[in-house]
Amino acid sequence: MRVLVTGGAGFIGSHYVRSLLAGEYPAFAGAEVVVLDLLTYAGTRTNLPADGHTFVHGDIRDPAVVGAAMAGTDVVVHFAAESHVDRSITGAADFVSTNVVGTQVLLQAALDAGVGRFVHVSTDEVYGSIDEGSWPETHPLEPNSPYSASKASSDLLARSYHRTHGLPVCITRCSNNYGPHQFPEKVIPLFVSNLLDGKKVPLYGDGLNVRDWLHVDDHCRGIQLVAEKGRDGEVYNIGGGTELTNRELTHRLVAAVGADESMIEKVADRLGHDRRYSVDWSKIADELGYAPRVPFERGLAETVEWYTANRDWWEPLKAR
Ligand SMILES: NC(=O)c1ccc[n+]([C@@H]2O[C@H](COP(=O)([O-])OP(=O)(O)OC[C@H]3O[C@@H](n4cnc5c(N)ncnc54)[C@H](O)[C@@H]3O)[C@@H](O)[C@H]2O)c1
Repeated sequence: MRVLVTGGAGFIGSHYVRSLLAGEYPAFAGAEVVVLDLLTYAGTRTNLPADGHTFVHGDIRDPAVVGAAMAGTDVVVHFAAESHVDRSITGAADFVSTNVVGTQVLLQAALDAGVGRFVHVSTDEVYGSIDEGSWPETHPLEPNSPYSASKASSDLLARSYHRTHGLPVCITRCSNNYGPHQFPEKVIPLFVSNLLDGKKVPLYGDGLNVRDWLHVDDHCRGIQLVAEKGRDGEVYNIGGGTELTNRELTHRLVAAVGADESMIEKVADRLGHDRRYSVDWSKIADELGYAPRVPFERGLAETVEWYTANRDWWEPLKAR
């Protein structure tokens, strides 16, 4: 079996690859693993083990590179994307070209190569913002940021390749991830690394935006269940973390690092800031037996410990 992982040098993709190579997904034991990654500012080979996989340094928007990497592939797990909402507000062009055009290039190559499974890793942000309750997979897509709009576009292209061509696509839509190896522009590693450096942490607006925090290991196990057992053409929400306001999260991080609350600095809110995300993940639980395993208290403590112990990993990335 040959598994092509796009974006495998980033936060979630590298966790998936490390788990796969460590034998945590027995159904894929012995698979040939190929990582395709452009190594943008967000990707680093220091996220990956030195061996056990083939690394292709290339762009998902390049049909020649993608066609060559796709040849002989059985399963595609597509993580590669521009992923940071704030960057999409100051410049959306790369989000459209990588997330939309790049995904279409991959889908076409997968169709041409006759792959048996294409998992498109999407996000709960495609649904927009919800004040109460949780979104089922059937909820309309109402993305609010250029990032989430580009992800919604790629999500719909993936769906269309199933409906039009019968490509065996599954789409996952997950809530906010946390864990080791997350690029230090995202809130948890940004705040932890700032606090470790004695710097203040910028809390957007009133701090009452709510996010569901899921450990990256739980997300990757959900993706793996979908890769193995998902039904063609279906969408699966992945959630079940811990819903917290940004203010609550910040207080926990300050306490975990042993700093004090004077380090919290309120800053102007993010433009178009979604108030709350919440997915209904009963479909993947009922159909595929998914359940998150990492309790937030433990996962967050281990994540803070990891950033504390791995300054060598994040310091150069923060300087990028
Ligand atoms: N981080 C989250 O909380 C979260 C939640 C739900 C879904 N997702 C989705 O999961 C996926 C992975 O997210 P992440 O947080 O690991 O992102 P990340 O930014 O850490 O990693 C993205 C990776 O994609 C690579 N990449 C970017 N453009 C590329 C291109 N044109 N060609 C090839 N490679 C390219 C980068 O080099 C990097 O290694 C994304 O599709 C994202 O939308 C993320």
